[in-house]
Amino acid sequence: MGETKPRPSKKVTTKSLQRMKLRGQSITALTAYDHLMAELLDAAGIDMILVGDSAAMTVQGKHTTVTVTMEEMLYHAKIVTKGVDRALVVGDMPFLSYQVNPDEALRNAGRLVKESHVEAVKLEGGIKICPTVERIVDAGIPVMGHLGLTPQSIHKFGTYQVRATDPEEADEVRRDAEALQRVGVFGIVLEKVPAALGTRISKDLDVPVIGIGAGPGCDGQILVTHDMLGLYTRFHPRFVRRYAELAGQMRTAFERYAADVRSGDFPSEDESY
Ligand code: KIV
Repeated sequence: MGETKPRPSKKVTTKSLQRMKLRGQSITALTAYDHLMAELLDAAGIDMILVGDSAAMTVQGKHTTVTVTMEEMLYHAKIVTKGVDRALVVGDMPFLSYQVNPDEALRNAGRLVKESHVEAVKLEGGIKICPTVERIVDAGIPVMGHLGLTPQSIHKFGTYQVRATDPEEADEVRRDAEALQRVGVFGIVLEKVPAALGTRISKDLDVPVIGIGAGPGCDGQILVTHDMLGLYTRFHPRFVRRYAELAGQMRTAFERYAADVRSGDFPSEDESY
């Protein structure tokens, strides 16, 4: 990229994220699904880039993340990793690529690492998926957990509302987090839970907890890039701070272009050979 200056700092690894937690340095994370976006995020010094299964919604126009396939995730992950030098790139394992059994999960995690060059994978779930997490970690692939609102279970939850507001579910999330840490995850994404629970789990765990709608007490924050850019506007959860309003700006640009072509104003002499 001509205009963006790469940050001259060392490659981020799962170990650097751990050191950042120990030093009390907040970890920054965003999602990417293509090469250009990945290059821009990396040049901006974002520490972790997630090739999220949110691609189903942000790129494919679906209403949930459950439909995205392994082949589609491999495609997105391949074009993202080509654009990244510094950030740690984590690939989401799509729904049903890891729930059937640990062998199949390891095979699919291995494909993400071998074929698309992500450096770690992310799985949704707690105690129930611990044997699977252990199997993948034992094979040498770093695993990130995802607790709280786990969008692949949307049909079970029935709603995208905040999770773990009652003490029973909060305890369950804490136990899940501790179990995931025991089987070797290098970090956990904690989505849409009360801020007090985000702080508590971040303090209790040794591994970094990256919050999304889990309050300021987490070790880092992640947002869906299309949400924070104001590109994805179907809904606007309160945890999303919009740093731009790109949907509106793009629409205006497209309308101006169409008007200029229709009026004969574009292309001008200067824009012709
Ligand atoms: O798929 C995704 O974008 C995610 C984030 C919500 C963390 O899992």
